[in-house]
Amino acid sequence: MNPAVKTAAKTPVGESKAVAGRAPATRKGRLSAVTEEQRSEIRELFDNRRKGYSLDAPFYTDPTLFTADMEGIFGQHWLFAASVAEIPEPGDYVTVDYGPYSLIVLRTEEGVNVLHNVCRHRGARVLTEAAGTTGNLVCGYHSWTYSPEGALVHASAPGEATFDKGCFGLKRAHSRVVAGLVFVCLAAEPPEDFDEVSRIFEPYLAPHELSSAKVAFQQELVEEGNWKLVMENNRECYHCDGHPELACSLFPTWGLTEGIIPPHLEDVWDRNVQADQALKDRCVRYGLPYEVLEELDTRIAGYRISREPLDGAGESFSASGRRLSKKLLGDLRDFRLGRCSMHLQPNSWFHFMSDHVITFSAFPINEHQTLVRTTWLVADDAVEGVDYDLETLTYTWKQTNLQDKNFVELCQRGAASPAYEPGPYMKSEYQVEAFINWYVQRMQEHLA
Ligand code: FES
Ligand SMILES: [Fe+2]
Repeated sequence: MNPAVKTAAKTPVGESKAVAGRAPATRKGRLSAVTEEQRSEIRELFDNRRKGYSLDAPFYTDPTLFTADMEGIFGQHWLFAASVAEIPEPGDYVTVDYGPYSLIVLRTEEGVNVLHNVCRHRGARVLTEAAGTTGNLVCGYHSWTYSPEGALVHASAPGEATFDKGCFGLKRAHSRVVAGLVFVCLAAEPPEDFDEVSRIFEPYLAPHELSSAKVAFQQELVEEGNWKLVMENNRECYHCDGHPELACSLFPTWGLTEGIIPPHLEDVWDRNVQADQALKDRCVRYGLPYEVLEELDTRIAGYRISREPLDGAGESFSASGRRLSKKLLGDLRDFRLGRCSMHLQPNSWFHFMSDHVITFSAFPINEHQTLVRTTWLVADDAVEGVDYDLETLTYTWKQTNLQDKNFVELCQRGAASPAYEPGPYMKSEYQVEAFINWYVQRMQEHLA
């Protein structure tokens, strides 16, 4: 038996030992929600991990490990929050929650401001809607009022003449806007290499001009699965036989490489290679980058970006591969640009086509639930019912998301069984393994 499984069965993390030890101080001097004894158990689980295999059950089921993930991954790394198209006018906001963290992503006259959604009086959530428009931000409990920059501008408190409002502004989080995508970081000192990674992926995405796109539709799905199972499922297409709608526009050889193409797919592989060359030629003509760049587990801001052909007409995610919106994004001049796809550790993925963009983000809720938010963006002058049909635009990925939700939930139920043991990743699942490697490295550094 894998020794890690033995360890997990012997001392499941997060049982009554939660009160056994004093919680260690984090870098910011706050008490961690994970005790020193639990950290030691978690470290042991990481140390005993069998490389090339899925994780032990507690990584998917244990509430204390979930808390550790929130501290070590979501509390430390750059995270995709929203696109600027979701907050087009000053005063527009969205709220995003990562486990216990809640953030307000607010458009201001100057740009984008990201504030912790925690009132400085007694901690109430300030904004309770998922999205909206606001002037000042007013807490619903005792009406403390904050400016869009987060300064406390009004606190009606009789007899508190000496109360210093300047000390009680909403806390800010770090943020960056890259090619119309808003990223946030909750760490006191964010990892520096995100800036370098931004400079790598921005040229791929910028021609699609998200800043002049609009939201066509947004879907929120709560999946009954740990956030890592959501991400693992996203990082492979070994299961893509379960996606008949998506399979129309993806080459059946997607995810395979030369040398592991089964004989019955050799013709498809040749067609894929030809489409890839034609796409590269078009990219050269239009000055678009197309190289596959991949540093999924070899740097802190792990990423993968590529431009790849789509099957059929090669334009978009439709049954025929034809465009789903008649309006090209940005200054693009050709519909046949396949998909520019990006994965970012830890929780987001994107598909940029010539006619629309889809952003995906996984927001952990607890150890067994994750919110997956999918947003379809089209050119801001595209008119629904004229330039695109909303049902047709969203059909492929709505279906695919539901199918993925089912796969994730099957795995979560499996991980909860005493019979579960980690299984081996296949060659076509190397990106899943890279995600897990990245996760393990980051957590081991955090727990060290
Ligand atoms: S908790 Fe917000 S005003 Fe009191
Ligand atoms: Fe899938």
